[in-house]
Amino acid sequence: MSVHIRNFAIIAHIDHGKSTLADRLLEHTGTVSNREMKEQLLDDLELERQRGITIKARAVVMQFERNGKKYELNLIDTPGHVDFQYEVSRSLACCEGVLLLVDAFQGVEAQTVANAYAAMEHDLKIIPVINKIDLMHARPDEVAEEMMNSLGTDPDECVRVSAKTGEGVDGLVDAIIEHIPPPTGDPKATLQAMVFDSNYDDYRGAITYVRIMQGTVKKGQKIAFLRSGTSHEVVELGRFAPQRQSTDVLAAGQVGYLICNIKSLGDVHIGDTISIPGDKAAEALPGYSRPKRMVYCGLFPSDGQDFSELRDALERLAVNDPSFEFEPETSDALGFGFRCGFLGLLHMEIVQQRLEKESDVDLVQTAPNVTYEIINKRGETITIHKPQDVPDPGDIEEFRQPIVRCNVIVPDDFIGAVMKLCQERRGIQQSQEYLAAGRAMLTYDIPLAEVVYDLHDKIKSATRGYGTLDYEMVGYEAADLCRLDIMVNGNRVDALSVVCNKADADRRGRAVAKTLKKEIERHMFEVAVQAAIGSRVIARETVPAMRKNVTAKCYGGDITRKRKLLQKQKEGKKRMKAIGNVEISQKAFMAVLSDG
Ligand code: GTP
Repeated sequence: MSVHIRNFAIIAHIDHGKSTLADRLLEHTGTVSNREMKEQLLDDLELERQRGITIKARAVVMQFERNGKKYELNLIDTPGHVDFQYEVSRSLACCEGVLLLVDAFQGVEAQTVANAYAAMEHDLKIIPVINKIDLMHARPDEVAEEMMNSLGTDPDECVRVSAKTGEGVDGLVDAIIEHIPPPTGDPKATLQAMVFDSNYDDYRGAITYVRIMQGTVKKGQKIAFLRSGTSHEVVELGRFAPQRQSTDVLAAGQVGYLICNIKSLGDVHIGDTISIPGDKAAEALPGYSRPKRMVYCGLFPSDGQDFSELRDALERLAVNDPSFEFEPETSDALGFGFRCGFLGLLHMEIVQQRLEKESDVDLVQTAPNVTYEIINKRGETITIHKPQDVPDPGDIEEFRQPIVRCNVIVPDDFIGAVMKLCQERRGIQQSQEYLAAGRAMLTYDIPLAEVVYDLHDKIKSATRGYGTLDYEMVGYEAADLCRLDIMVNGNRVDALSVVCNKADADRRGRAVAKTLKKEIERHMFEVAVQAAIGSRVIARETVPAMRKNVTAKCYGGDITRKRKLLQKQKEGKKRMKAIGNVEISQKAFMAVLSDG
């Protein structure tokens, strides 16, 4: 009996019920029994569960029979955050259809729109699904209309379900079978498979998730990764159902995993194509790109002794997460540490949390910065990952920064507040549309640097939690930027250089100089704190020279008190860094860095 395959993903705004629906589908198709059903089976990383965000795509096969026909439904889970957009796009490239899930009370949100557009770009069949119809305040008719207005879906095609109670899930399985086209691809052709995800198993090494586009792959076979140019033998292959189940063969249309004794995830590139080694290999699939790190920061152990411990911890992390990169960096102010690159701010937070959990190192983090491009006077384009690397103003022809297109969905009472926020962040409005009575979508192009720090939080608080934001990269654009340096008695403090708009430089420079003045202890001589662009000083504060000896007032008095004071001074010294002849405490750096 032949098997009918359907490959699909569920895409949704956060908390609209994707994981709950996945669980119900697994249960409904008999893939797991009620008893086995753990909550949120698909989010298996503990950290993901804590944060409630699906970070890494996984795939699960559901096999069952209906009306005498055998079905195999492959559910490919997609990450729900903009930082992992590329992984989402590769997962979608493995599907023929998607369930576009919208909460019957919340309605269409920013991520719903972003995800739906991504599915349209891949020409996927979209099944609109309205979830949580059991809620007392559910408004499925209005939400169906909102979906029609914003996404062009047919209200009559909307499947209404409750992932919580299971109502409507049976009809949804029918819709998947009837409306999502079966995969095409000749199992006898040369092997061509798409790598859409990977994860690391301590015992087996890299586990590579694949969709077979054409041909067949067998256990023991030699395969080649076309982009990375490596060849391996398939030691094990199979599917997740939802536990790992090994099989002998995966053929055109199927989704599963390969294990090939690969020791590091850095060797498995998402978006790569697998074929046979040699000249007869199939063509590489389109759409491959390397991970794009958009946000960088420096990580330094607060105690210099912990440097090698930090390096080991970072290495362990990188084995499991090829999107994360790091390289050694030295700073006059902070000593030896690492410059780390992340896909985005959430990715940065996740890596930091893992570091904190998995190692004991106490960390100092420098302010995050985005990647810039500079065209110098010789016409060369340089990519900048840290502000210290920005050349002096005289050598810069053009300074370019990444721009993202932001979609914000808000109840119309808050349109004014959101527009104000976006304009303050140098946003340029692209459009404004009504999705339904009372709900609008605003589209702005905004510099990524202005978005990453706190725009999402600011939008949430300006809209009492109702506004949602999503964004995608548009490209690099020239802007009036500069490197702002902080100098202490004429010496540049490398860890405190930032890239900012020239128009903001004065304000920022003055603020940092003021903060530092407060934090730097008096020396025997006067200390000048200056903010400068190139050689031009734009702000100056002075720490006056010390007049009194700390212990002077104890003369002839209480000796223990004197000792205590000296001891305290010694401990303080440990955390001091010398910039030229000026000693600055770690606390002073922290005060400036945390001011942003
Ligand atoms: P992320 O994994 O964080 O992206 O969220 P998600 O979209 O997977 O949502 P999840 O399945 O975790 O559901 C979010 C919340 O909505 C949970 O508290 C669920 O219990 C609840 N929920 C999901 N489906 C339904 C439903 O049909 N009815 C009701 N009343 N609640 C639901």
